[in-house]
Amino acid sequence: MPICQAVNACFYARYIDIQCVSCEQDRDTKMRNEEVRLYSGSKLPLLGFGTAAFPYDRERVELAIWTALKMGYRHFDTAKIYGSEPAVGSALMEAIHDEAVSREEIFVTSKLWGSDHHDPISGLKQTLKNLGMEYVDLYLIHWPAKLKVWANYAVPNEDDFEELDMESTWAGMERCLDMGLCRFIGVSNFSCRKIQRLMEHASVLPAVNQVEMHPMWRQKNLREFCGEKNIHVSAYSPLGGPGSPWGTKAVVDNPVICSIARKHKATPAQVALSWGLSKGVSLIIKSFNQERMKENMEALELTLDHEDVVKIERLEEKKIMRGEFLVNGTTSPYRTIQDLWDDEI
Ligand SMILES: NC(=O)c1ccc[n+]([C@@H]2O[C@H](COP(=O)([O-])OP(=O)(O)OC[C@H]3O[C@@H](n4cnc5c(N)ncnc54)[C@H](OP(=O)(O)O)[C@@H]3O)[C@@H](O)[C@H]2O)c1
Repeated sequence: MPICQAVNACFYARYIDIQCVSCEQDRDTKMRNEEVRLYSGSKLPLLGFGTAAFPYDRERVELAIWTALKMGYRHFDTAKIYGSEPAVGSALMEAIHDEAVSREEIFVTSKLWGSDHHDPISGLKQTLKNLGMEYVDLYLIHWPAKLKVWANYAVPNEDDFEELDMESTWAGMERCLDMGLCRFIGVSNFSCRKIQRLMEHASVLPAVNQVEMHPMWRQKNLREFCGEKNIHVSAYSPLGGPGSPWGTKAVVDNPVICSIARKHKATPAQVALSWGLSKGVSLIIKSFNQERMKENMEALELTLDHEDVVKIERLEEKKIMRGEFLVNGTTSPYRTIQDLWDDEI
């Protein structure tokens, strides 16, 4: 029996092994993925779908994106360095072709790798080619680090670094905007001090700073700083990345988080996500598992009590993605982790 009767109306049915009797039932499980406004008034969906997974499996990413679209995810986060742009692009473009969603309904973020700081326009054009799209919604400087042009891999070698020239990189990002290759530009993994310096020469301010944020790395100062400058904060690793090569289970296994979850008959992941949402940030969550994707989407329905938030904000903080791979004593502009984060770690 086909999993969905209205095959033409529901293109996902061809791909997704989902227990549904009819499209009506699907609609009930689809949550409203609310949106926040960026400074220009354009909207960014609160829940974003992360696609960084190693090893990269194109078919798996495509399937996950089709499932995510069906559940109501509308923001898709990728990066040239993840290798996921072709899968993200082909799944989304097929959904658009099949009129399951329109291009305007989805929000696509990608990122400039260090080796493209020399020429952000070419970097973004390559990204658009990988995605098969005419524009991305948001283009971010992935890290504040410039690498040799050939260093197109995740962990640079000791001699791959070049002197950072943020003024010229940002001018290239602004040009991308002028050319209509993206709707917004922003940064990722930037400290308050780095944003402040960028603002001294920027004609266009970053719309977003995408940073690690979860109950055990709360980014209070950065959020306040970005709030004052009208820069939206997007939280990556909002669960602390349990099960990912760079992540930890420290957040979802934390006894305080687990006890709050029991109180609300929710899961620890939902508590972590609900806490993030309560801080006014958008979240980029990665799950390629249908049940967990749904569980994460349902965090939109959980509201924590004030006392829960107070307990969470007493937890010891520990940054997970410390960026050691960008620190060395020879060619990197960052001799120590503290240099990289301007002592905000
Ligand atoms: N800008 C940057 O420098 C940067 C850095 C890191 C990440 N990111 C972006 O942010 C996205 C998310 O970050 P992340 O992957 O590091 O962290 P995350 O979303 O906090 O955690 C992802 C991990 O948690 C598991 N998971 C998902 N939902 C769960 C749940 N409800 N319960 C238990 N485990 C669950 C996933 O496994 P399953 O897939 O098996 O569910 C996956 O292993 C990335 O994919 C990427 O797009 C950006």
